Amino acid sequence: MDNSNIVILAIESSCDDTGAAVIENGRVLSNRIANQDVHKSYGGVVPELASRQHLKNIIPVIDTALKDAGKTLQDVDAIAFTRGPGLLGSLIVGVSVAKSLALSLDIPLIDVHHMMAHVLANFAEDPVPTFPFLCLTVSGGHTQIVQVDDFDTMEVIGSTRDDAAGEAFDKTGKLLGLEYPAGPVIDKLAQSGSHRFIFPEPAVDGLDFSFSGLKTSILHFLQKNVKDNPNFIQENIHDICCSVQSTIVEILIKKLRHAIHQTGIHQIAIAGGVSANSALRKAFQELGESERCITYTPAFQYCTDNAGMIGIAGYYLYRNGRFAGQNVTPMARMDM
Ligand code: KG4
Ligand code: ZN
Repeated sequence: MDNSNIVILAIESSCDDTGAAVIENGRVLSNRIANQDVHKSYGGVVPELASRQHLKNIIPVIDTALKDAGKTLQDVDAIAFTRGPGLLGSLIVGVSVAKSLALSLDIPLIDVHHMMAHVLANFAEDPVPTFPFLCLTVSGGHTQIVQVDDFDTMEVIGSTRDDAAGEAFDKTGKLLGLEYPAGPVIDKLAQSGSHRFIFPEPAVDGLDFSFSGLKTSILHFLQKNVKDNPNFIQENIHDICCSVQSTIVEILIKKLRHAIHQTGIHQIAIAGGVSANSALRKAFQELGESERCITYTPAFQYCTDNAGMIGIAGYYLYRNGRFAGQNVTPMARMDM
């Protein structure tokens, strides 16, 4: 196999965004995403609507990604795709298109674990981490502290026992009447707010997280205050957002600090949609300084779901000769 120049077409369809990217020798040439606005009014992703939108979007998105990169299908050496975890109906669309392309072009298929790809988004741009490093991966469905020993050797050393950090943002947003996904909206509103309201932090041992108690205390806090003042939310939206965001960030940073002490690893990274959060990025840098760690933060376009990270993961798997057969199936749940 000629490993001197490797062009990978990557496909991501695990949730509600349809992504395609072209990666040449581990560098992202193009990274296209079609967001699905249909879910906004539902306050969360509607799986059936998501898979239908993927069907509509996937070919045009692939086409645009190839054009952006100045490549054609004939230039592509392998197809990388998200196998899981994710919504089964959404994954099926990406997996089927990936298999069809690989079969018709007679090139290898590379199945990629979505959460591993989030971690490997830290390799999109220089400087890149060296192994081992710790990665706090925070997305809409997962909250994990991962010990990364190699491109395909990762161990989850802490994870959430209930809701994910992204879910905590999104569910709070729903209570506040904000659009889905609420994370970016809360981030923006929090910028002119202060951490005036105090919410209890969960008492979970070790490196695990819990966010469902926070969700309940926010609900009770809002119910109580809205009863006294029906305009409470509108009048205090900035401070509420800032207080909730600060609490989530404190919970995350505390556990990451704990993981640094426990493992003695002083290279740390963040990944996943919530790693786009400005308060988390700031607190993460401060943690790095106080613990004397080297820190890695992906550019915004590689934080939320994107195919660029799938292609980067695909590139390293390609170099290790780790391919999938045509019998590969999507997996809604998938261990790392
Ligand atoms: O990684 P991602 O795009 O999809 C999953 O794999 O789940 O993460 C989506 C999550 C959503 O919960 C969204 O609200 C959150 O990331 N998110 C943010 C920000 N941008 C996206 N949360 C807080 N602040 C942000 N700036
Ligand atoms: Zn994701």
